[in-house]
Amino acid sequence: MTTDSQAQFNVGSDAVNYDVMPGTEGPSVVNISSFYKDTGMFTYDPGFTSTASCESKITYIDGDAGVLLYRGYPIEQLAEHGDFLESCYLLLYGELPTMSQKQDFVNRVTRHTMIHEQMNRFYSGFRRDAHPMAVMVGCVGALSAFYHDSTDITDPQAREIASIRMVAKMPTIAAWAYKYSIGQPFVYPQNDLDYSANFLRMCFAVPCEEYKVNPVLARAMDRIFILHADHEQNASTSTVRLAGSSGANPFACIAAGIACLWGPAHGGANEAALNMLDQIGTADRIPEFIDRAKDKNDPFRLMGFGHRVYKNYDPRARIMQKTCHEVLSELGIKDDPLLEVAMELEKIALNDPYFVEKKLYPNIDFYSGITLRALGFPTTMFTVLFALARTVGWIAQWKEMVEDPAQRIGRPRQLYTGSPKREYMPIAQR
Ligand code: SDX
Repeated sequence: MTTDSQAQFNVGSDAVNYDVMPGTEGPSVVNISSFYKDTGMFTYDPGFTSTASCESKITYIDGDAGVLLYRGYPIEQLAEHGDFLESCYLLLYGELPTMSQKQDFVNRVTRHTMIHEQMNRFYSGFRRDAHPMAVMVGCVGALSAFYHDSTDITDPQAREIASIRMVAKMPTIAAWAYKYSIGQPFVYPQNDLDYSANFLRMCFAVPCEEYKVNPVLARAMDRIFILHADHEQNASTSTVRLAGSSGANPFACIAAGIACLWGPAHGGANEAALNMLDQIGTADRIPEFIDRAKDKNDPFRLMGFGHRVYKNYDPRARIMQKTCHEVLSELGIKDDPLLEVAMELEKIALNDPYFVEKKLYPNIDFYSGITLRALGFPTTMFTVLFALARTVGWIAQWKEMVEDPAQRIGRPRQLYTGSPKREYMPIAQR
């Protein structure tokens, strides 16, 4: 732990000094891990707006500059020149793969895309109209019931095979959740297709006819996966780390991450953003919704806008907007009314003083919904696709935490403002 200076806290008449630890990019941190021992007090930061929960080498975000780096590489370059499995390798192992490393990794992932045949029965236990995210939480958590050889987190081999299995099996589990919801038969993975083409085929192929993958749509799907792969210590990644800190197996930790991602303030925002655009319907109703978003007494927020870290345009949103136009033109969708509303809404919001002063910009979820709907997915599947892509980020962060020799169970404290100690009162005297 290198420090380049100290931070001093004046607590009562005492001055307490703490090491300042510099990062390679971004803000330094003050190491206050002995603060309670030194002062008898806790620090307080319920939304973690000023708290670093860990040290990580995986992803860096500069919210003011709108920068996102996976292991130092800008997201724009990875999305433009690479593919999703290359980004998976980068996030998991820290370097871009050589040709032979990439081929070996793709082969290993390809050979783990099938799930245990008995998992098939899990699906039939759900109602057909169950939200696919409920199915994902259940099925991913259940993987630990089948893969006992990769639940011993102290064994590096087990950690490696669990990582490959998670990346490989999520498309199959997600596609089957979709097929189950529409009453169509499951489509098994096909090993001669690449990752995203295989996923689209498992979602949209039917036994009665040959399914031809559209390479433009497969490339768009792959790029969408790259954009969603990791994002530093967001809510669901922090959930995975906290679950993993107790020694829980990786499948259970990823299931916890999926549950957290489901919320509309987080990964559920892509579904909520499209539903909001549907609700707005036409551009002339935009002012009404902008007013509601600004009204403190109205819980309505512009879904797909704002971000805890980005106080500039989310770099992923720009790439998503470009991908949206590519997909719509490939499908010959000339004037998607929702895209019109989205672009008009963005234009108005970005010029409204409320959004300007609060630095609220479109985030990745603003254009993803329109793109995913054009690809043929129902809104209920949008967060499932987010979870599919984010699994590699969750696993990479989980591995980094488990392999950190200083790692301990995460156990925050609290500011207690409940009742002081009092004596039990028999019911007859209450
Ligand atoms: C994701 O963390 C990540 O990295 C997440 C993610 C990832 O890749 O993992 O990037 C994915 O979750 C993207 C965000 C998707 N969520 C949405 O689009 C939902 C709508 N956005 C908001 O709910 C909100 O912006 C959050 C949840 C994203 C951020 O919440 P913060 O940082 O806690 O911000 P805040 O709620 O404190 O808002 C600050 C101010 C508030 O006003 P004041 O109390 O200061 O007067 O801005 C306002 C908010 O009311 N505000 C909004 C708004 N977002 C914030 N007002 C209207 N519409 C909005 N969308």
